[in-house]
Amino acid sequence: MGDNAKFSIDGDNFEYPVLQGTIGPDVVDIRKLYGQTGAFTYDPGFTSTASCESELTFIDGGEGVLLHRGYPIEQLAENSSFMEVAHLLLRGELPTADEYSEFTNTITRHTMVHEQLRGFYQGFRRDAHPMAIMCGVVGALSAFYHDSTDINDPAQRMIASHRLVAKMPTIAAMAYKYSIGQPFVYPDNELSYTGNFLRMTFGVPAEEYEVHPAIEKAMDRIFILHADHEQNASTSTVRLAGSSGANPFACIAAGIACLWGPAHGGANEAALNMLHEIGHPDRIPEYIKRAKDKDDPFRLMGFGHRVYKNYDPRASVMQETVREVFETLKVKDPVFDVALQLEEMALNDPYFIDKKLFPNVDFYSGIILSAIGFPTSMFTVLFALARTVGWVAQWNEMISDPGQRIGRPRQLYTGPAKRDYVPIDKR
Ligand code: CMC
Repeated sequence: MGDNAKFSIDGDNFEYPVLQGTIGPDVVDIRKLYGQTGAFTYDPGFTSTASCESELTFIDGGEGVLLHRGYPIEQLAENSSFMEVAHLLLRGELPTADEYSEFTNTITRHTMVHEQLRGFYQGFRRDAHPMAIMCGVVGALSAFYHDSTDINDPAQRMIASHRLVAKMPTIAAMAYKYSIGQPFVYPDNELSYTGNFLRMTFGVPAEEYEVHPAIEKAMDRIFILHADHEQNASTSTVRLAGSSGANPFACIAAGIACLWGPAHGGANEAALNMLHEIGHPDRIPEYIKRAKDKDDPFRLMGFGHRVYKNYDPRASVMQETVREVFETLKVKDPVFDVALQLEEMALNDPYFIDKKLFPNVDFYSGIILSAIGFPTSMFTVLFALARTVGWVAQWNEMISDPGQRIGRPRQLYTGPAKRDYVPIDKR
């Protein structure tokens, strides 16, 4: 049987095909394992389980490599734009000039949200976390765009994807405006995707808003760095939700909910809060000591990654972008020095070396977002905005796969075995 993996249980031998991707580790196809052996595999947290086949993104965590459809993230961050990367992920290739103009036109034409959607915002307290608003409002899109919820129609799937990518900046900016009590700003379709978002966030209807080209470039790059990341928790959530046939707006709302957690997208907010709490380089050793203490739940936020056991390539680009933005804006933030020194100290500490813990994308992103003017509560919202491209691309890929089935993991049951009901007076 050639390259099969051999498996033996209770003296019986079985063989399972070993699949090979373009690059990356081999994958043992165990789909028939339960039917043939009656046994499940056990892999909480999916550390060894490939949940799907995908052509979108490749990560080599050991080498610190991230490719979107083959293109290294560093090259995309340097030369591309977020809309180009969105085209690459959604449609399979970098666009030609004509394709680019058609794609950006399509996205631009979907930037407005239904006027009645504004009513949803009023239902939230002013101090609501913008991610809470995002979960609610994005889920509510299902109730507004009925003509793009038939997942069996590829054209509707694409329209829903365009709508989600186009409306996320509008919805995110509205969440911010609501939290500070300012009027919502309508999209301006003369501007780029990112420029429009900056204007809707920081502009006011009473004044002209000029998009700062350097900020626009930095923001666009931050979006590129967050566009997709293979089968991470929120993407897997989107796929799992979508596997039941749920509509795309509901699936993306599920992804947003998952992204919110501090171990995932919420880490950029947590990382900046941590850097502020440290406050001065003198206090770094104290925090490193706490991060290493098994009895202390504290972890260095923005450090470590399930897949990267080397420097997260997005973190290097992010660090460089912080320098560029600081230079352009002629600002300094002592927190950046704390971050640089914390990184250096951690990378020379045997605990972090042995466990292969390196800065991840979230370590530097908060510093730059804060310099641009975003409050920490908006950081994860920006991540969600950018990741929507990856989510819809992954969702489309899954739904287009003729072999797609509902996602339904099994379990190792450790509760009581069957027992008889005991009436309340006998317990
Ligand atoms: N600080 C201190 N120790 C750590 C850290 C950290 N940031 N991260 C992992 N460790 C230790 C952990 O205690 C464990 O030690 P031991 O083997 O002695 O039990 C070991 O390293 C392996 O950690 P793990 O929790 O088993 O690894 P994981 O793959 O389950 O978790 C992670 C990955 C990202 C959740 C984790 O590294 C973490 O909590 N980091 C801080 C939060 C963070 O920055 N998250 C952003 C991730 S990147 C953006 C995104 O994808 O959303």
